[in-house]
Amino acid sequence: MNRIEAINSFINEEDRVVDVGCDQAKLSLMLAKRNMPSIASDISEKVISKAKSNISNPLIDFRVSNGLEMIKEGEANTLVLSGMGTHTILDILNNTKLRFDKIITISNNYHDILRTKMNDLNYKVSKEQIIKENNKYYNLIVFDNGNKKYTSEEIELGLNHVDNDMYKEYLNYLLNKYLTIKESSKDKNDKIDMLIDLLNNKIKSIS
Ligand SMILES: C[S@@+](CC[C@H](N)C(=O)[O-])C[C@H]1O[C@@H](n2cnc3c(N)ncnc32)[C@H](O)[C@@H]1O
Repeated sequence: MNRIEAINSFINEEDRVVDVGCDQAKLSLMLAKRNMPSIASDISEKVISKAKSNISNPLIDFRVSNGLEMIKEGEANTLVLSGMGTHTILDILNNTKLRFDKIITISNNYHDILRTKMNDLNYKVSKEQIIKENNKYYNLIVFDNGNKKYTSEEIELGLNHVDNDMYKEYLNYLLNKYLTIKESSKDKNDKIDMLIDLLNNKIKSIS
């Protein structure tokens, strides 16, 4: 399963989707195959005109939009933000009054900050999935409305993972990565030590 297929698997027939940062609108194409309309938006005019010239499907509503600026209240209840960094995702959400029943993210970085700050915006983690595409791991997170008190393990390593085998593989990859960093650095790094402890405990608990 690739990233876009994974996002698609968390979308139900009744969801009204806006994909912000759609690029070539692969998700909207998948949704159209399910006979579902969606909004495919991107900040880049060039990207949208290229997507429009490749795809002509009445179920896809293309928009040039910085974040959610061109999306109106009531047009969508499910937001997809994939292939961008945590700070861009948070900027987009901090700059809108719109609320969503479901937000699906695949951030490139800082998943700990994403989980924490989304909680401040009253969006809590519902499910997570690790996807491996072209030998790279991606952390998909589905948020819904509400607030949660997370443990530090949940903030750092996520929770409610749907693919346990891939999650274990990812945890082992992270453990090796942090052990290598620790070995190659002369200085003590409390954050790396904390992550190594969390990873060792988590791997033990799910093996
Ligand atoms: C790497 S692509 C990701 C494409 C697709 N969502 C995916 O996951 O494969 C990132 C896209 O986000 C768009 N983007 C970046 N910042 C944005 C913003 N503030 N609002 C809307 N789109 C944005 C870029 O133009 C680019 O097309």
